[in-house]
Amino acid sequence: MSGFVSLVGAGPGDPELLTLKAARRLAEADLVLYDALVSGEVLRHAARAHCFFVGKRAGALGIRQEAIHRMLVEAARAGKRVVRLKCGDPFVLGRGGEEALALAEAGVPHEVVPGVSSALAAPALAGIPLTHRGLASGFAVVSGHDPAAWRPILDSIAPGSLSLVVLMGLRARAELAEALRARGWSPATPAALLFAASTPSARTWTGTLGELAEAPLPPGSDGAPATLVVGEVVALSASTGLAGDEAGAPAWRVA
Ligand SMILES: C[S@@+](CC[C@H](N)C(=O)[O-])C[C@H]1O[C@@H](n2cnc3c(N)ncnc32)[C@H](O)[C@@H]1O
Repeated sequence: MSGFVSLVGAGPGDPELLTLKAARRLAEADLVLYDALVSGEVLRHAARAHCFFVGKRAGALGIRQEAIHRMLVEAARAGKRVVRLKCGDPFVLGRGGEEALALAEAGVPHEVVPGVSSALAAPALAGIPLTHRGLASGFAVVSGHDPAAWRPILDSIAPGSLSLVVLMGLRARAELAEALRARGWSPATPAALLFAASTPSARTWTGTLGELAEAPLPPGSDGAPATLVVGEVVALSASTGLAGDEAGAPAWRVA
């Protein structure tokens, strides 16, 4: 078998945040299977490949995960260089691990090309240092998709002890805020919603945990991915001189 599968992280959206290795794998690929949130500008690096969308967005039905495994295995067995392209990092809340396991089980040669996760890029681009001496010496990244998954994690975190980053948490923001407050987090804890980070439509809301449930969504943010950050470090975004959007324009902001 001469085929090969690369599980590649596309980063948060800005094509300049693609790694050199990711760009090279895309340029050499015969086939690219890409997810939602992978930008057209990133796909342009795959000049000679057939590109197929296999993603889904919140609530929408997509191609079943097992079908994606089959496509990866069959394409590699047919001798193709395949890129499985996922937003951010493939192994951060992206089911890349399941794909690596399926490829290993099928005996298909494969690799992972890490990407810049939105969990790191979105706060950084909004001027929020996730760790900052004296404020937070660690952070946790959780999925806000399923309360059964995030509730036990919140139970295990001492209130205010770290910066909390929630991906896929926009819909559940009221529930998350209530759960944190019920676990002893102060309603005055700074919080931010970071929409479409690293893209020209990037927008930021900052406020407090007490205000999160009622946070007004920025105009035009419908369908935009959002990362939620809770913790004292969020208060630094106003002072780091980095909180503008991609083009340097002021972010949409309610403070
Ligand atoms: C299925 S998860 C995949 C995470 C991805 N593997 C990563 O490392 O960034 C999708 C979630 O990532 C977050 N996300 C992805 N791109 C984003 C962006 N440009 N700005 C803000 N959040 C983003 C959102 O929370 C979105 O719902």
